[in-house]
Amino acid sequence: MAHKSTRWYNRHVHDRWVKKAQQEGKRSRAVFKLTQILDAHRCMPSDCGVIVDLGCAPGSWCAEIASLYPKARVIGIDLLPMESIEGVTLLQHDFLSPEGQQALCDALDGAEIDMVLSDLAPEMSGNRIVDQCSAIALNEGVIHFCQQHLTMGGNLLMKSFMGEGFDQVRQSLQAMFSKVKVIKPSASRKESRELFLLAMGRRGRSAPDC
Ligand SMILES: C[S@@+](CC[C@H](N)C(=O)[O-])C[C@H]1O[C@@H](n2cnc3c(N)ncnc32)[C@H](O)[C@@H]1O
Repeated sequence: MAHKSTRWYNRHVHDRWVKKAQQEGKRSRAVFKLTQILDAHRCMPSDCGVIVDLGCAPGSWCAEIASLYPKARVIGIDLLPMESIEGVTLLQHDFLSPEGQQALCDALDGAEIDMVLSDLAPEMSGNRIVDQCSAIALNEGVIHFCQQHLTMGGNLLMKSFMGEGFDQVRQSLQAMFSKVKVIKPSASRKESRELFLLAMGRRGRSAPDC
């Protein structure tokens, strides 16, 4: 049987979305998940002023957003270093850490966010239970962040993973937003438990804490 890394390599080089990303000069195949969702669901608020991209490395979502919405302020954060993108403020921090939260507050400088994007995914350990817990902890961090910084009527697009905790995450979003959809774009590998939650029309009161 082929070694796991050999199987990953073979799958990667034959993947149509990897090839398309290379041909079009995109930083990652992940960009097509975003564009498929944006095209099908028209979920970017009109006159979008501030967009925050959580878990943004290597930067394909940020680059796409900056070119589609040149008037928007785009802020991205990731644990990993990234090559700069014109018009985008990139932060290198753990999103869940106090330093990461403070760096985002500083970059926002009092502004509320119109659209939060999150493609955050934990580094997979191979232990399904541990990985699912880490993914759900990231989702909960994103929801908390939206409670503090997402404007009323604003939208969230967030990657999640089917498994323990997913239904609770969806229910939290249903309590907080007017409409919640579960989306599996065709660029997302069929065998992956990855899904996207699109939550539109934030309700309730904001609670800024910075
Ligand atoms: C699927 S990749 C994002 C791809 C990106 N949307 C793009 O288009 O290039 C997920 C990212 O989440 C980041 N990540 C995971 N946990 C994080 C955390 N606690 N804080 C910041 N970034 C994190 C990883 O470093 C990784 O770069």
